[in-house]
Amino acid sequence: MNKKTVKDINLKGKRVLMRVDFNVPMDKGVVTDDKRIRAALPTIQYVLEQGAALIVMSHLGRPKGAGFEAEFSLKPAAEVLGKLLNQPVQIAPDCIGPEVEALAKSLKPGEVLMLENVRFHKEEEKNDPGFAKQLAALGEIYVNDAFGSAHRAHASTEGVAKFLPAVSGFLMEQELEYLGRATLNPARPYIAILGGAKISDKIAVIENLLTKCDKLIIGGGMANTFLAAKGYAMQDSLVEPGAIETAKKIIANAGGKLLLPIDAVIADKFEAEAANKVVDADKVPAGWRIMDIGPQSVVLFSDALKGAKLVVWNGPMGVFEMPKFAEGTFAIAKVLAASGATTVIGGGDSASAVKKAGVAKQMTHVSTGGGASLEFLEGKVLPGVAALNDK
Ligand code: 3PG
Repeated sequence: MNKKTVKDINLKGKRVLMRVDFNVPMDKGVVTDDKRIRAALPTIQYVLEQGAALIVMSHLGRPKGAGFEAEFSLKPAAEVLGKLLNQPVQIAPDCIGPEVEALAKSLKPGEVLMLENVRFHKEEEKNDPGFAKQLAALGEIYVNDAFGSAHRAHASTEGVAKFLPAVSGFLMEQELEYLGRATLNPARPYIAILGGAKISDKIAVIENLLTKCDKLIIGGGMANTFLAAKGYAMQDSLVEPGAIETAKKIIANAGGKLLLPIDAVIADKFEAEAANKVVDADKVPAGWRIMDIGPQSVVLFSDALKGAKLVVWNGPMGVFEMPKFAEGTFAIAKVLAASGATTVIGGGDSASAVKKAGVAKQMTHVSTGGGASLEFLEGKVLPGVAALNDK
């Protein structure tokens, strides 16, 4: 990465304004997965150890942008951060304004203030320069460690970098390092695995990956559209009719690199307790739908993964939230864990799948970014990264 990091700047005695991605899942005001908060700790701890005061900012969810909404308050995330740091983390009433500015300026080295959700202001997503300037007024140095939001050109991820010295945190650096391995000089054989429901979201990723990888495995709901493109009757399976022509072109241009499921676990309804059976991919009976890849596909994909040096995986192989339809996803997760390859997992669903399969710790890197990792794999420049100061 040719961008400056927190190691390239003197932080002592400074007020550091740090963008993190604490857009974490919550249930009734309780954080249900603190992975993203933990992932930001190395940078947070480093900044504090350097003798800086820290102002942390993030978005959470998609509030209306018209002021405070309790449901989207970052207070629970601030509490989790306080527990993990074992020190108080004060939550500001807002993210800009005289009161917040006074709070920020009264911070002593080693103290932490968390701003309220930046998306309580519509100017955040509009990347309004006046709003970005007000955020910037809170700190003296800007650190971006929010890889998960780096694909957004918003005021707190991009605009603010124009007003302060702007460097990356360790999480951002690490994410770019591992995902970068998939785009620049990948170790070979390099196998990419894509899954998840929709192909329309991932066409650009498929096209870009096909130019880089040695094999591209496609499973999950998105494989159905490819199987339909091959002329198989998908019956009640999820298919995107508008993407069938594109899928045909991708198959024609893939030059044999593309691997699709050859069998499937099917169900008579989209329910955890639905009747289920295994059929060949071209023999889905009327009234049934594909819910997972079948055992022969697991063998096909596992063989393709043998000897891989690098594997990038984004998107589950089936409806893994339902135990009857989780086997394909978990089997692939276990093959990766035992593969000896560098394994890079992107996207919230794949991250949760490797965790549920009990193999998250055996993966080389599990990304904290869903949309951001996909856009990176598409070959796009991430605005939150581009805005940082060059080395
Ligand atoms: C994410 O969870 O992918 C990031 O936090 C970005 O959130 P957004 O899609 O609401 O911008």
